[in-house]
Amino acid sequence: MSSLLIQSSTHDYEVAIGSGIRGRVEEILDKDYQKVLIITDSQVADLYLQQVIEGFSPKGQVGTAVVPAGEASKSMEQYQYLLDVCVEERLDRKSLIIALGGGMIGDLAGFAASTYLRGIDFVQMPTTILAHDSSVGGKVAINHPQGKNLIGSFYNPVHVIYDMETLSSLSPAEVRSGYGEVVKHGLLSDPKWLDELLQQDLTQLSKDQIAKDLAKGIRVKANLVEQDEREAGVRKYLNLGHTLAHSIEAELGYGDITHGEAVAIGIWFALKLSKKKFQTDLPVKDYVNWIIRNHFPVDKLNKLDCNSLINRMKRDKKTVHEVINYVLLTDTGFPCIEPLQDEELLQELNDFLKEVRRHD
Ligand SMILES: NC(=O)c1ccc[n+]([C@@H]2O[C@H](COP(=O)([O-])OP(=O)(O)OC[C@H]3O[C@@H](n4cnc5c(N)ncnc54)[C@H](O)[C@@H]3O)[C@@H](O)[C@H]2O)c1
Ligand SMILES: [Zn+2]
Repeated sequence: MSSLLIQSSTHDYEVAIGSGIRGRVEEILDKDYQKVLIITDSQVADLYLQQVIEGFSPKGQVGTAVVPAGEASKSMEQYQYLLDVCVEERLDRKSLIIALGGGMIGDLAGFAASTYLRGIDFVQMPTTILAHDSSVGGKVAINHPQGKNLIGSFYNPVHVIYDMETLSSLSPAEVRSGYGEVVKHGLLSDPKWLDELLQQDLTQLSKDQIAKDLAKGIRVKANLVEQDEREAGVRKYLNLGHTLAHSIEAELGYGDITHGEAVAIGIWFALKLSKKKFQTDLPVKDYVNWIIRNHFPVDKLNKLDCNSLINRMKRDKKTVHEVINYVLLTDTGFPCIEPLQDEELLQELNDFLKEVRRHD
């Protein structure tokens, strides 16, 4: 088992990465809890819930709450349901919530933990590759019908327990999705690691390789959030690829493309813009080959219209006074933020969509 330490403004917490550790939660945690509520989704419950429960000795009380799998559960209704369970189970300030699942569960259960009794301890147990990103950094949220993550807080877990074995049941699309964020972390940090990542065939990754990549990705994210927990400065770099990704996800309808797949396509656009603006040696060609070789669903962009995408970007909560701020790279490991004017964006996005269609 390997371990990383993350600092936050309220406490430091450990990320434990290992194989088969989902049944050892009680042993890994530093504290004893009399009551534990494991929150998970229907798909993960069928696969892993029982083994997590069995890791607790009979002295404590372990309850469970299962919500339907899928982004639609990051809702007011499921949040209310979870609070009802917390009250029924009489969780108190000394109780623990465990978020067992992907980023959807981490965000939803973390938000419930952050608000129930003004905040009780919670543990992130990520079961997707993408959740290496969402389980650290302390952002928790639910969606509003008008937009993603509009209701939330900054609230850090007391521990992250990442069992690599659970990743073996992910679908190819979920593996791609997770690696969209891993490659983002590569671009934000280390040319050598990025080179290795861009050579990968995502259907052939070993458990050890994934564990190494996730630990590196978590470290990159941690370095940025440790400097800027509330996203006033450098944390914004983590939005590389996300401005376009969010508008692609919203235009296609959530669920038609995974978050990380959309991010990977958004990064392609950011790399092209970066190359044009800064004449850098960013490995754009290798990046495009990686996207195509690993079957990122670029064909889905055929349905999309440039103006609608730009309008969505303007409604993004990160857009300030209608000017769209883009995360670009002057080189691998050197992000910056550039405001983009409407005409330029329209022109560049049009060219980009044409290029993507050529690869379809
Ligand atoms: N808080 C943050 O900083 C942050 C960062 C990035 C993303 N997010 C959020 O994360 C969410 C996306 O996370 P996600 O991609 O993990 O989605 P997800 O949690 O919806 O999981 C994707 C699918 O995989 C299934 N699944 C999960 N683990 C599995 C396993 N081990 N085997 C088989 N199937 C499994 C789930 O049931 C679901 O159907 C979004 O809501 C996004 O907003 C948050
Ligand atoms: Zn993301």
